[in-house]
Amino acid sequence: MKLRATATGPLIGTFGVPGDKSLSHRALIFGALAAGETVIAGLLESEDVLATATALRAFGVRVEQFGPGRWRVIGGAWRSPDAPIDCGNSGTAVRLLMGAAAGQGVRATFTGDASLSKRPMRRVTGPLEAMGVRVEGGERLPLTVEGPVTRGIAHLNVPASAQVKSAVLLAGLGTHLAVEVAEPVPSRDHTETMLAEFGVDVEREGHICRLGAKRTLDARLVEVSGDPSSAAFALGAAAIVPGSEVTVKNVLLNPHRSGFVMALQRMGADLAMDNIRGRGGETIGDVRVRFGPLFGAEFTAEEIPSMVDEIPILAVVAAGARGETRIEGLDELRHKESDRLALMAEGLTACGIEARADGDALVVRGGPIRGGGQVRTEGDHRIAMSHLVLGLAAEQPVVIDEAEMIATSFPTFREAMRGIGAKIEEVA
Ligand code: S3P
Repeated sequence: MKLRATATGPLIGTFGVPGDKSLSHRALIFGALAAGETVIAGLLESEDVLATATALRAFGVRVEQFGPGRWRVIGGAWRSPDAPIDCGNSGTAVRLLMGAAAGQGVRATFTGDASLSKRPMRRVTGPLEAMGVRVEGGERLPLTVEGPVTRGIAHLNVPASAQVKSAVLLAGLGTHLAVEVAEPVPSRDHTETMLAEFGVDVEREGHICRLGAKRTLDARLVEVSGDPSSAAFALGAAAIVPGSEVTVKNVLLNPHRSGFVMALQRMGADLAMDNIRGRGGETIGDVRVRFGPLFGAEFTAEEIPSMVDEIPILAVVAAGARGETRIEGLDELRHKESDRLALMAEGLTACGIEARADGDALVVRGGPIRGGGQVRTEGDHRIAMSHLVLGLAAEQPVVIDEAEMIATSFPTFREAMRGIGAKIEEVA
């Protein structure tokens, strides 16, 4: 299915943002590790998260939906699944589950779709092997992991990856061995925060986190807040479509995830945060963006982990800003669901914007957005949604070559965008 986005005027209203993807995966997995019944409210019911739910059932865990976004997980001992676990498109599912399975002392084979099968996995299986886990396979899926964990580890998490950090911590849960992860540049810390909420002793000291004495999880209620990576599409659109004013409520404002909001502010966006409060160890709040003049800016490699999934939409915002934007340190973007650095440069160029990859930097010169291009997404959800936002601010509509994969992270994207007045429709 192809989709076309057409500029029709200002975007106005409250954007219906779904639950956070990172928190949703973790709520399911941690619930599966906790003895007793964990209840989850606001779970993101996207393909990636459902892949985790299905995988957990194969490990012998009871996982049930009992209302929209409401799930029940009855955790306990895991067993080795009979068949390979298909993680679909989801890097978070496969990397976290490899660590958790190893920690539970079971044996499991993991597979994924064409995109996931191209992504690097040694970054996870390397540290797991160092922890004494048996691994069959190389850099890519399919891979087999077999616990138990027999050795502790002091892992240096470079390049900063929350998925790798999480895999190491989850592997260590079934042991009393010394397990620590040091991060020169911090990655998102949801695993540490949510493990602590589940009653695990997690010691955090500067850029180091380590497992303490209590490593068992106590079942609990998890309320999943709005996904800042999904909110970014509406906030970015409001920033570049003249006359717009959009609010996103109850969105996660964890500093390791708020890089995009900070980037908008740095570029001069008319942005306000309100109703900031705590929930489940995390900070959440409402964010409002009004259209106004934006200016190109420079972003350094250290800033990337706090907006790693938002670089495609940041590049679109840069197209609507005055002057040049330079985003450094994007090597990791080449290893996401697609080579996002190359595809953003290509897609923006196809829509009349001067954009190029310069080593591992992305350089975008803002200006009138001609649009009119057909954009190649290579099955990457964030490349698709970002270019649809570009179309909402362009002189001519923008068409994306494929749209089904938007459901991996944001199945209600079109509906939510329609809710603020965006015109996004199917084309033959
Ligand atoms: C995620 C971590 C990030 C991010 C991904 C989700 C997570 O990847 O890109 O979409 O939930 O832990 P890294 O492991 O590269 O940080």
